[in-house]
Amino acid sequence: MPASDSTAPALDSEGLDRMTQFLGERLAARVTPKKPRIAVVLGSGLGGLADLVNDAVVVPYEEIPGHPRSTVAGHQGAWISGMLDDIPVLLQAGRFHLYEGHEPGVTVTPIRIMARLGIETVVLTNAAGCLHAKWRPPALMLVADHIQFSFRSALRGPVVEPESRFPDLSDPYDESLREVARRVALDAGIRLHEGVYASMLGPTYETPAEVSMLGRLGADAVGMSTVPEAIAANARGMRVLAISSLTNLAAGLSAEPLDHDDVLDAGRYLERSMQTLVRGILVELSKS
Ligand code: HPA
Repeated sequence: MPASDSTAPALDSEGLDRMTQFLGERLAARVTPKKPRIAVVLGSGLGGLADLVNDAVVVPYEEIPGHPRSTVAGHQGAWISGMLDDIPVLLQAGRFHLYEGHEPGVTVTPIRIMARLGIETVVLTNAAGCLHAKWRPPALMLVADHIQFSFRSALRGPVVEPESRFPDLSDPYDESLREVARRVALDAGIRLHEGVYASMLGPTYETPAEVSMLGRLGADAVGMSTVPEAIAANARGMRVLAISSLTNLAAGLSAEPLDHDDVLDAGRYLERSMQTLVRGILVELSKS
């Protein structure tokens, strides 16, 4: 079967190299002054950043042989590269979640491609439920650390070179990037919480008992993404920044049942602040 007909994701090093070469050639078709060093992963309801990119090259996932496909409403399913505020960026519009049934390696395929494309810094955005007793969503939170409750490491299985077998995670969300984010938020008048993100497998939202447990174990927010990608990026020595849109109080903390459409609505409500924050961070990083 020709590679372009294959719908099974190619997860090994050779498959990743092939996808990277294909994508790299498509992105290089449009001449941008410099190759992007920063990539942004757009979470639920945060896709609008893609519309702000000038001279954009859009490469839908399904055009890349062996690339996994998106299945979730609110996630577009394309790589986008171009200039944002005169800074070359690569955007991943549409991510892969464990709850879709993907192998852990699929969830981090885009991160592995980014590393092969020479990306040095990854900004991960997501929507999350708020666990912190004193915070009121909708609000933004800088991820300071995480607790993985999906119990499915993205790196499980054969080592994908040049990742190491046992990557260090003592500073998973780069402190110097968080300092930049705090400064940008302060200057822009954006309230930015900072706390621990717990990742669940999903796709159900949590029960009130799980929410109570997570809070007692030290988590401030809960979601179903980001941790696999942060782990894979750390395994390649990329610097990671993660920002959560706290779209709702986690289950049991409010009288309202949870609804994905409400999560998307709140994500859209926060989108402008998220965009301002991410753009400000990109500008700051481009100076160094
Ligand atoms: N739980 C898990 N994931 C989420 C939530 C939540 O409350 N809100 C947005 N994503």
